[in-house]
Amino acid sequence: QQVGVLKGKHVVISAGGTVEPIDPVRYISNRSSGKMGYALAQAAVEQGAQVTLVSATTTLPDPIGVKTIHIQSAQDLSDQMIAALPEADVMIMAAAVSDYRMGEPATNKLKKQESGQLTLTLVENPDILAQLGAMKEQQYLVGFAAETQNLLTYAQKKLVKKNADMLIANDVSKDQVGFGYDTNQVTILTKNHEPQVLPLQSKLAVAREVMQKISKAIN
Ligand code: C5P
Repeated sequence: QQVGVLKGKHVVISAGGTVEPIDPVRYISNRSSGKMGYALAQAAVEQGAQVTLVSATTTLPDPIGVKTIHIQSAQDLSDQMIAALPEADVMIMAAAVSDYRMGEPATNKLKKQESGQLTLTLVENPDILAQLGAMKEQQYLVGFAAETQNLLTYAQKKLVKKNADMLIANDVSKDQVGFGYDTNQVTILTKNHEPQVLPLQSKLAVAREVMQKISKAIN
């Protein structure tokens, strides 16, 4: 692989799972570990980029040499990514964003209901990748698609619908792929090229290949 290919470029990456409060002590989240996004941040630093990482929940330490901004909710993430867009050359949405949030989180801890049932009303969160896709100018926009079936068809649709330049698709029904694992097996889709199937490998190795591919596309 070539080195220093992202010198002078600003790469903004989101990672981890968003957290949507239900009440002061409870929340809605997901199984994202943040490992893929953090690996991408490391791979971008290795290639000489200036890197901003907007991190939702994860147990990982802040990567060295990266400006890391910690956020909780999808709305916070949306605000940070939109604020970063004008100064970015590459934006990668690797975060697992909750599609829904509590319309109005309770201000006090919810008590057990007499009825034995509790109904929560959820409202849709913004699709941040689609927001960035609608707002971007020269920025190169990358998204992920975790699917359990019809991988390429669904991923291709997302690439177009969200106006991304690259979509990294993984079949999370496979062993060792996606959430929580240190390894991943992805297929890279771009607008003008045939899908590229990468082997099962460490998330850092995947991240390095992705960065090489992005640098070729933007340089
Ligand atoms: O539509 P789906 O959630 O499968 O799309 C996945 C891609 O869209 C990921 O890059 C994810 O970070 C992004 N996404 C988003 N905002 C949402 C949901 C997903 O930016 N509300």
